[in-house]
Amino acid sequence: MHVPVLLQPTIEGLRLQSGETVLDATLGLGGHAKAICEQIGSTGTLIGLDQDPETLELAKRNLEACPGQKMFALGNFRRLSEILQKVGVAQIDAALFDLGFSSFQLDRSGRGFTFQKDEPLLMTLSGDVQSSVLTAAEIVNTWSEASLADIIYGYGEERAARKIAAAIVTAREENEIRTTFQLAEIIKKALGPRGRFGRIHPATKTFQALRITVNDELGAFKEGLGAVWEALSVGGRVAVITFHGLEARLVKEFVRTKKEAGELELLVKATKPDRAEVLANPRSRSAQLRVFKKIN
Ligand SMILES: C[S@@+](CC[C@H](N)C(=O)[O-])C[C@H]1O[C@@H](n2cnc3c(N)ncnc32)[C@H](O)[C@@H]1O
Repeated sequence: MHVPVLLQPTIEGLRLQSGETVLDATLGLGGHAKAICEQIGSTGTLIGLDQDPETLELAKRNLEACPGQKMFALGNFRRLSEILQKVGVAQIDAALFDLGFSSFQLDRSGRGFTFQKDEPLLMTLSGDVQSSVLTAAEIVNTWSEASLADIIYGYGEERAARKIAAAIVTAREENEIRTTFQLAEIIKKALGPRGRFGRIHPATKTFQALRITVNDELGAFKEGLGAVWEALSVGGRVAVITFHGLEARLVKEFVRTKKEAGELELLVKATKPDRAEVLANPRSRSAQLRVFKKIN
């Protein structure tokens, strides 16, 4: 249901030892976590965190037979300090961020992550729609044209952001935009034939922008990475798998700042999946792995 991306280089890069305490901050269905458990063995401890309750329950089942102590937590990694305190862990030896969402969420969530299916425009990664303050539908139906253009350009890296924002505002005057198909159609029309013959679907970048905004993904990642660094022992390692340029930029900035402060050594420079992996798992196409170590 979800094939872990860059599995081997991630596990090798983390240089795990038996008995270590490792945080998987984006547990997903536990693909990477399973390999982590095998490395740290029966004396190791895995802390598996995810903000999606359905995903977390599946991961628990998938990891049942794995060795070692396992702790599971539901929550956003931006609140990591609180979460670690709750599970009674003061320090970790390694951590993994495999950012974004899983194939399982894409295919089964019913929350509108993909324009391949007609679903309500929610895009909430937490799965907790009741308490969520923001949905993609709310953004496309209520935000100003300028704000829409800003997020589509800033978080979607979409050059035709203004054109798309204008088309959304015109369309919503007629009818509220409630579903993924409605939105994808508006974007397709706005981009015309040029958009239709590109390498990716014309709505890809706008959908990315909405998802990032709804979940404040970049803000959460920045805070989560900071919190991981705080909890990491000296000698501890962090692996990050990013899926677009904005996430990668945050990691690069973090690495540069900590390196300049003499606190960090880069162990694995941006590594991409090979051709075979991309062919077998197209979701890995834009993935990049970086691993770094706390040296001070
Ligand atoms: C790409 S998947 C991870 C897949 C996992 N490595 C595996 O092999 O099964 C990313 C996961 O991170 C979770 N996630 C994304 N942002 C999060 C956040 N801010 N806090 C906690 N979990 C988050 C998503 O719900 C999703 O399950």
